[in-house]
Amino acid sequence: VLAFRAAISLVAKAAPHALTSEFGSLVRACRKRARLTQAELADLSGLGVRTIRELELGRTMRPHRDTAGLLADALGIRGAAREAFERLATGKPPATLGGLPLPAQLPAGTPDFTGRVAEVAALRTLLTSGRSGPVVVTITGAPGIGKTALAIHVARQVRPSFADIQLFADLGASSSVPTATREILAGFLRAFGVDTGAIPEHWRERAALYRSFVAGSKVLVVLDDAIDEAHVRPLLPGGEGCATLVTSRAALACLEGSRVLRLLPPAHDEAVRLLAAFAGSRRVAAEPAAATAIVERCGHLPLALRAAGARLAARPHWLLGRLALLLLDETRRLDELAIGDLEVRATLDSSYKSLSESAQRALVLLASRGQSDVSAENAASLIDLPVLEAERVLDRLVDAWLLEVRQSGEAAELRYRLPELVRVYCRDLWSRQ
Ligand SMILES: Nc1ncnc2c1ncn2[C@@H]1O[C@H](COP(=O)(O)OP(=O)(O)OP(=O)(O)O)[C@@H](O)[C@H]1O
Ligand SMILES: [Mg+2]
Repeated sequence: VLAFRAAISLVAKAAPHALTSEFGSLVRACRKRARLTQAELADLSGLGVRTIRELELGRTMRPHRDTAGLLADALGIRGAAREAFERLATGKPPATLGGLPLPAQLPAGTPDFTGRVAEVAALRTLLTSGRSGPVVVTITGAPGIGKTALAIHVARQVRPSFADIQLFADLGASSSVPTATREILAGFLRAFGVDTGAIPEHWRERAALYRSFVAGSKVLVVLDDAIDEAHVRPLLPGGEGCATLVTSRAALACLEGSRVLRLLPPAHDEAVRLLAAFAGSRRVAAEPAAATAIVERCGHLPLALRAAGARLAARPHWLLGRLALLLLDETRRLDELAIGDLEVRATLDSSYKSLSESAQRALVLLASRGQSDVSAENAASLIDLPVLEAERVLDRLVDAWLLEVRQSGEAAELRYRLPELVRVYCRDLWSRQ
């Protein structure tokens, strides 16, 4: 098994760059690893020493397929690695690894992706700046703000800079069952052609094998919806020229060397453009006041705008004003913002349920207060905790993007406010208590 892994790893390292002339280097590396001289390899394979020497020197550009087969036999290269080895020998582009394509796992982008011009430019620069050492960038932001859409959009744009391998994994932090890092590692290894039976048990060994696959290649890794730093750390490729784009509702502030992009709700005009992209620009242009009301009642949240837009697209005979009116009723608003698998309430649920009991209680009490923002002292008395303790709870809510904080006035007093749909969600909980 060890030899098998070593051979796969060798081919994997060579494959992304391998041109025909590099087949010779691969033969040489495999021969050295097997501790054979050229003469011994000649004996074992039944080929002439001269044939092997010419190959290793890159003078024979395209060895016969039988020659590659005899060499693979003699070197003990089997299975997936053997197929890759033989493919390299024939000079075919190294599009596959052991019959499998080299991992190019980026999902399709959002066809109607709109706006986020500054964020896209910043991320492109960070990912392709050519800084020495691996690059790690985290996109963090509220549930449904557009982290995944932005990450995939940018990853597809910078793909030519990471032509060797692109890996993608949904870590599922906000689903009911997040995927463990060791499972993600197993998935990546399978994508490299490692048989399920050859995947090591321990995650550290999995991570080591994964790193040997990606070493020396320009790899882009997209890790969507991570819980925390520990969830992603073993998945970061270490080589220069590699980049990782992580999305998470948490800021992952302790991820070594990571740059963080905080994704905020789009401003009014951009939010209207999103609604136009989803519902049709003519309809939005025909009813600007209703469009503004919808955008505001959706709290500028792209997920909510997507749901509102999808409802309008499904009912071409509706006026926008009708939906704006339906959204006015706060007790029904979240029900109106659900269509197909787009569910604003379920998205907020997953964030709310990840909070401690005291944070949940504080959130609901803050929502009972209505739309106005509050100072830390007011919040503390509302949630009935000493100020210092209250501030800790408020910080946790801010970290989870369920509470907004800003400085106000000359004394730079902190004021807290619930995002529009979080307020509506918590009012619902409060009225049911
Ligand atoms: N810039 C955009 N252009 C078009 N659609 C967008 C944009 N941003 C977000 N969306 C849409 O909004 C919805 C929510 O976006 P997305 O799933 O990326 O949010 P998220 O921040 O990853 O949420 P979560 O925290 O639940 O993972 C999706 O339907 C997505 O297509
Ligand atoms: Mg997401």
